[in-house]
Amino acid sequence: MADSNRFTRRDFVKAAGSAVAAASLFSVTPSLARTNATRRRYAIVGTGDRATSMWGLPLVQKYSDVLEFVGLCDINPKRVVAAKEIIGVDCPTFTNFDEMMDKAKPDLLMVTTVDAFHVDYITKGLSRGVGVMTEKPMVINEKQCRAVLDAEKSAGRKIVVTFNYRYAPKHQKVKEILMSGELGRILSTDFSWYLDVYHGADYFRRWHRLKNKGGSLWVHKATHHFDLMNWWLAADPVEVSASGDLKIYGKNGPFRHTHCRPCPHKAKCPFYYDITKNERRMKLYVANEDADNYYRDGCVFREDVDIYDTMNALVKYSNGATMSYSLNAAMPFEGYRVAFNCEKGRLEVRDYERQPWEAPEETEIHVTKSFGQRTKIELPKAEGGHGGGDDRLRDLIFRNASAPEHMRLPDSRAGAMSCLTGIAARTSVEQKRPVKIEELFRG
Ligand SMILES: NC(=O)c1ccc[n+]([C@@H]2O[C@H](COP(=O)([O-])OP(=O)(O)OC[C@H]3O[C@@H](n4cnc5c(N)ncnc54)[C@H](O)[C@@H]3O)[C@@H](O)[C@H]2O)c1
Repeated sequence: MADSNRFTRRDFVKAAGSAVAAASLFSVTPSLARTNATRRRYAIVGTGDRATSMWGLPLVQKYSDVLEFVGLCDINPKRVVAAKEIIGVDCPTFTNFDEMMDKAKPDLLMVTTVDAFHVDYITKGLSRGVGVMTEKPMVINEKQCRAVLDAEKSAGRKIVVTFNYRYAPKHQKVKEILMSGELGRILSTDFSWYLDVYHGADYFRRWHRLKNKGGSLWVHKATHHFDLMNWWLAADPVEVSASGDLKIYGKNGPFRHTHCRPCPHKAKCPFYYDITKNERRMKLYVANEDADNYYRDGCVFREDVDIYDTMNALVKYSNGATMSYSLNAAMPFEGYRVAFNCEKGRLEVRDYERQPWEAPEETEIHVTKSFGQRTKIELPKAEGGHGGGDDRLRDLIFRNASAPEHMRLPDSRAGAMSCLTGIAARTSVEQKRPVKIEELFRG
């Protein structure tokens, strides 16, 4: 029997562009946008690093006039208490989500759990009529994607997916150059992301090393890059062909242990990580290990690593453009290159995040016109996380700040399209064939 609340592929394809629906966290429930003296009741589920650093302490510091923390929830009963201290709030803590929702009665819910569980809290939050925001990736597989879209349809409202990368001024600049039309039609793009032997390795120490927790880096990490590309191109992904391999971490290691602290190989291991030097991580993870046996300094060479560290994909888009993409997780430096090969020229970006030499600037952007000249694009100086992008994102969400159409909040459509690109890439690697995005909506 047909279920009217089931989100069909046709619904998805015909859904309006992500920006239009994105503001609905506020507009569907006007009470959430109120600017009078009542503060919005705010709760977080999944109180680890992201919750405390991006959606916890900075909100207490800068948004206490519009927000009131009413509950924090995590499956680790000790971490949720540690997080409360780090955030510096005086609200109840919970290990049971339903109990938190019943007792704390939030208006707004931030979902910052391990990726695989976002879907549970997004759908429950929606069914309770709460304004839901989730960290990326929205979900880790197509079944979860459908569940979120179905839940939105039943609830009659949309979630926000907090793609902070869009709000970095350099990324906005790229969007605006492409939107201006000065380079004409975009023919193809080259996008290479480099994760270094520190940050890249860190994914293999943590839950991210397991496909069933983070969907692999195709989803967990590349969702950021796929969202940027979908947004920059103003197009949807259509088909993905990919290859992926695990060449450095996991089974490739010459030795291994459970985690770094007791490891007998630490003196000779280039990936040895001394977590005891990080006070915050000691408090958030090490002090609470006995509650869940989760080791934040896990061995990067554990045999159970089932994700890839070396990935390539070719993505075809609905506007006829293509992307040649790579993600490598054991590089000597951190950063990326992206280039747009257009009818009338080329736009190139080289971003330096960390390297063993002095880079003159963090980001270089050049526009080169065919039969013409190369122009260096100057970027505005901005302060704060991600060049001021984090604050702009938080202002949009919590202060309902105004923004041009292309900077409006990303919604489930953006969350789905970027995840589905990664899910299609992962499927393509596993099944050794090109995968159409449309296929993921069958059945
Ligand atoms: N946008 C970004 O740039 C960015 C950066 C880092 C992390 N993130 C995202 O934030 C989320 C959290 O990442 P993190 O680095 O804080 O990880 P983390 O491991 O520090 O925290 C995750 C927390 O979720 C809890 N948890 C796990 N399963 C749960 C469940 N079923 N119910 C409730 N709580 C559960 C864990 O106990 C832990 O406290 C992830 O989705 C990640 O992708 C986004």
